Amino acid sequence: MSSNGASQRQGAEAKTRPPVHVAIIMDGNGRWAQKRLLSRILGHEKGSEAVRMAARTCREQGIAFLTLYAFSTENWQRPKAEVDALMRLLRRFLKTELPEMLQNNIRLNVIGRIEKLPMDVRQALDQAISATQGNTALQLNLALSYGGRDEITRAAQALAAEVQAGSLRPEDISEERLSSHLDTRGIPDPDLLIRTGGDMRISNFLLWQLAYSEIFVTPTLWPDFDREQFLKILDEFQTRERRFGRV
Ligand code: IPE
Ligand code: IPE
Ligand code: MG
Repeated sequence: MSSNGASQRQGAEAKTRPPVHVAIIMDGNGRWAQKRLLSRILGHEKGSEAVRMAARTCREQGIAFLTLYAFSTENWQRPKAEVDALMRLLRRFLKTELPEMLQNNIRLNVIGRIEKLPMDVRQALDQAISATQGNTALQLNLALSYGGRDEITRAAQALAAEVQAGSLRPEDISEERLSSHLDTRGIPDPDLLIRTGGDMRISNFLLWQLAYSEIFVTPTLWPDFDREQFLKILDEFQTRERRFGRV
């Protein structure tokens, strides 16, 4: 009955628009290594190649935002050797990928509790973020020391401080106002969430922002996730009907 755009686009063959923002839970590095009797750390190393592929593919497909869950607030509880290795890999990744980010007009951004990261990683991040800040093609958001609950809690603290200072009335706290205190302020919500490694859970990723994202879970382990599979999901996304609570 309704004549709005969303309902006109429905139907198995109809294609909706490609995603503007893709978010990925890059899971399965450890299992990839364990299957090969290698150390988990080698799995993370191999996983960084898939990160490169994902960024390149988004860039080439004209996707505006890619958010990658690289390290969660809970991941700090892993063995120190694994955490240290992840931090080393991250610093190396930032150094080796900076030229490609500059060349491909990719802007780097980070979400999460960056103050918890080791100083050398923060320096590499700061350097890459400021070197790429004028870039306009793909915005690559790395979620580091990131937890959705932590992010919402920090936003609540900021709002409470404004109320206490007398600059905000409780009844003026709106969804927009709360969003404006999240690390993702200014970034549209993800249209598409991909999780590799087969687990059907969110694991504290973008709890607020994923409210209406389309979810794809693939059993493929992150180091095995390739361009062809990524393109297939992007294509399938366009056949999904997004109703946003309407009919
Ligand atoms: C995801 O791979 C990478 C990080 C969480 C840093 P995992 O290390 O969780 O791999 P699995 O889930 O144990 O296979
Ligand atoms: C989610 O993977 C976090 C990242 C991919 C960085 P985890 O392996 O940490 O999540 P769980 O433990 O399976 O929920
Ligand atoms: Mg995992």
